[in-house]
Amino acid sequence: MWEDRFNTEEYVFGTAPAQFMLDHQALLSPGQRALSVADGEGRNSIFMAECGLEVTALEFAPSAIAKARKLATKRGVNVDFQNVDVTAHDWPRTYDLVVGIFIQFLGPDARAELMQNMKRSVAPGGLMLLHGYTPEQVGRGTGGPPRAENMYTEDLLKDSFTGWNILENRAYEREINEGRGHSGMSALIDFIARKPA
Ligand SMILES: C[S@@+](CC[C@H](N)C(=O)[O-])C[C@H]1O[C@@H](n2cnc3c(N)ncnc32)[C@H](O)[C@@H]1O
Repeated sequence: MWEDRFNTEEYVFGTAPAQFMLDHQALLSPGQRALSVADGEGRNSIFMAECGLEVTALEFAPSAIAKARKLATKRGVNVDFQNVDVTAHDWPRTYDLVVGIFIQFLGPDARAELMQNMKRSVAPGGLMLLHGYTPEQVGRGTGGPPRAENMYTEDLLKDSFTGWNILENRAYEREINEGRGHSGMSALIDFIARKPA
């Protein structure tokens, strides 16, 4: 399904980073190691590389990775793009930042497992950055899967990060224009937490 969706010249989610990344650019510092999970066509990983971070991107749709590589070349940055199914991945090392933007393709059980793996991949003192939709998004037709149980709530994220220092956990509404895939008034949530050192 994703492969079919990405198999076009167009960048389905655009080539600019998510507005969430721009809003939180102050958290990015040159030299940090970052992991972008289910990175799609590269817009967010490439932005972090442009900010001077050393970036690894995990994604399983070959046509999305091909477009991401093309965009990175055009922008003159290096990203380690890995063709990986994040539900069957080793998560071998840790990162200063682990970033998951619009990765709500899993139901509650598989999501909990992915979240555990992503949490393990954050180095002590490092940050988890998540951005996605709340259940209020379902039925709007402006992006995201049609499954409320896949979405995040502030309580779900707070409970998933017990013991971490939660810096931001905010649900809000905003109009976004991030390619054809995410376009229009949207019910969003931003979450940022620091792992204990
Ligand atoms: C809504 S898109 C978001 C892409 C990107 N994060 C962005 O914001 O532009 C969801 C992405 O998850 C990827 N994806 C879905 N299931 C995956 C899996 N099991 N392993 C790796 N990537 C997956 C899709 O191919 C797609 O690129």
